[in-house]
Amino acid sequence: MPLNIFKLAVLVSGRGSNLQAIIDSIERKELNVRLSIVISSTKDAPALKRAEKHGIETVFIDPATYPNKKAYDKALIDKLEEIPIDLICLAGYMRILGEEFIQTFSGKIINIHPSLLPAFPGLNAQKQAVEYGVKFSGCTVHFVDEGIDSGPIILQTAVPVYDYDKEGSLSQRILEQEHHLYPKAIKLIVENKLSLNGRTVAHKKS
Ligand code: GAR
Repeated sequence: MPLNIFKLAVLVSGRGSNLQAIIDSIERKELNVRLSIVISSTKDAPALKRAEKHGIETVFIDPATYPNKKAYDKALIDKLEEIPIDLICLAGYMRILGEEFIQTFSGKIINIHPSLLPAFPGLNAQKQAVEYGVKFSGCTVHFVDEGIDSGPIILQTAVPVYDYDKEGSLSQRILEQEHHLYPKAIKLIVENKLSLNGRTVAHKKS
C-alpha cells in the first residue's frame, strides 16, 4: 500500500448500501483510495457486517457511554486523528455532528442526502417530497457545514416523482442514483478536481 494513498473514513448508522457502493467502486479500481475505517453509531448496523466482509476495520462507538454529544464527537475526532484521514463520508449517519467536529475536519466531510437540496433537508426527505407533490426529487452530495444538510453542493441527480409513488418506491429509485453519485463525488475530491468559492463548488478545468 503506497504511503500517500488517499484515506477515507465512512460514518454509518444503518443499512450501509451507500457504503457498499463505495466499497464496490474501490474493488473495481474506479476509486483509488484506502477505506481505512468504518465507524458506526449503532451496534448492530448491517453496514458493519458489510465492511467486515471486505476486511475493513470497523468500530462501534456507543453514544450511550458518553455523557453528552460533545464528548461523543471528541471520541470520534480522536479515532479519526489516529489514522489520519483525508476525507470523511457520512453514509446514512443519523447523528448531527457538532461544531468542534466540523471545524476539526473543515472541508473534509461530505454527506449524501436523498433530495435535491435545499429542498427537504432533515429526516424522511423522500416522504417530504411525496407529500409536497414535487414532480422531481433526487439526491445530493454536499460538503458538511454546521447546518442541517446545508453545506456547498458537489453533485446532484434528479429523479422523477410519479403520481403512484409512495415513500418506499421513491426512496428505492433515489437510492439507485445515490449509489452512482456518491462514488463519483468522492472521485472528484480524490483527484483534486473541485474548487470551493464561497458556497459554490466549481469543477476545475483540466
Ligand atoms: C440514504 O438514502 C441516505 O441518503 C440517507 O439515508 C439512507 C442511508 O442508506 N441519508 C440521510 O437521510 C441523511 N440525512 P444506506 O445506509 O443504505 O446508505
